[in-house]
Amino acid sequence: MKDNQNFFLRNIWYYALPSDRLKPGKMIARTFLGEPVLLCRTREGKVFAVRDICPHRGIPLSCGRFDGQEVECCYHGWRFDHGGRCTVIPSLVEGQDIDLNRYNVESYEVRETQGNIWIYMPEPGKSQGSPSDMEIPVIPGFGDRPPQLVEVMRFPCFIDHAVLGLMDPAHSPYVHRVWWWRSGQLHDEIKQFDPSPYGFTMRKHQLPANTGSAYKFIGGGTPETEISFRIPGVRIENTTTAKHQVCNLTAITPISETECEVNFAFYWTVPWAGFAKPLIRLFTRAFLDQDRRVVEKQQIGLKYDPVLRLIKDSDVQAQWYYQLKREYARSLAENRPFANPVKSQLLHWRA
Ligand code: FES
Ligand SMILES: [Fe+2]
Repeated sequence: MKDNQNFFLRNIWYYALPSDRLKPGKMIARTFLGEPVLLCRTREGKVFAVRDICPHRGIPLSCGRFDGQEVECCYHGWRFDHGGRCTVIPSLVEGQDIDLNRYNVESYEVRETQGNIWIYMPEPGKSQGSPSDMEIPVIPGFGDRPPQLVEVMRFPCFIDHAVLGLMDPAHSPYVHRVWWWRSGQLHDEIKQFDPSPYGFTMRKHQLPANTGSAYKFIGGGTPETEISFRIPGVRIENTTTAKHQVCNLTAITPISETECEVNFAFYWTVPWAGFAKPLIRLFTRAFLDQDRRVVEKQQIGLKYDPVLRLIKDSDVQAQWYYQLKREYARSLAENRPFANPVKSQLLHWRA
């Protein structure tokens, strides 16, 4: 299989939405992996998701109303509850006893934790596949606290290219070349990587002087960081100083074959960082936008379906990503446990 052969991983949790974007009693229509999904939050605060297509005549349910409990289709008023069960067909008269369960709309498993809503995307057409034993990624050390800052940005590419950009250690000096980010000469980097659940982890290490000095400022001691990645496109970077912890979650979700969404959530324990939030937001957006613009240009070349030449060691993480993806899909198809293809290894590159 050619590496850049596009396919979506199924039967896996994807990041759907930052919690604060979905208020009680509201609904939001989204597209994930090319499927129309309606996310709703009941008045009591529980989130649910159903396919955004009325099983009667196909109109999006999001064109109708949500009363905080049930969704009502705008065409003939059929109603659906949080499990997608059809509860009312208004045109039925007495004696027309039909089993409303035959008219349910497909529903999706959703989970809400640490200020994020996750959705389990089963095989298409399989209503609510039961979630595999894969857990939802957890930001360590923050309990159920929501992030202090969230940014969502659309990238005009297939998910793989956004993911590769996310873990690419060699692009920073070229793509993120700005005065406030690690300027200067290329230098050698050597990092130890280990397999971790459904992915790999860059072992905890001290931050280089240029980045580390900024962290020293916020917490003293020697700042240390650990970065983990797991399919389908989740990266968690956890940095600790003597007093504080700063963690970011980046989770990429495909919208379609040509678009994906990069969700970036920032968690920190630094009390005064709240004041700097507008500035942090500005930097985060600028940073993400640099990655977005480069994949936008990449699309010009990818239209010709080139074979991609991934090299050692700077592209080994990209190779692992493709291996992890293929292994996950195969393990499901063959109905056997997932076997992580990543082996502990030192990687060495210049950046
Ligand atoms: S199309 Fe939805 S109720 Fe008829
Ligand atoms: Fe980047």
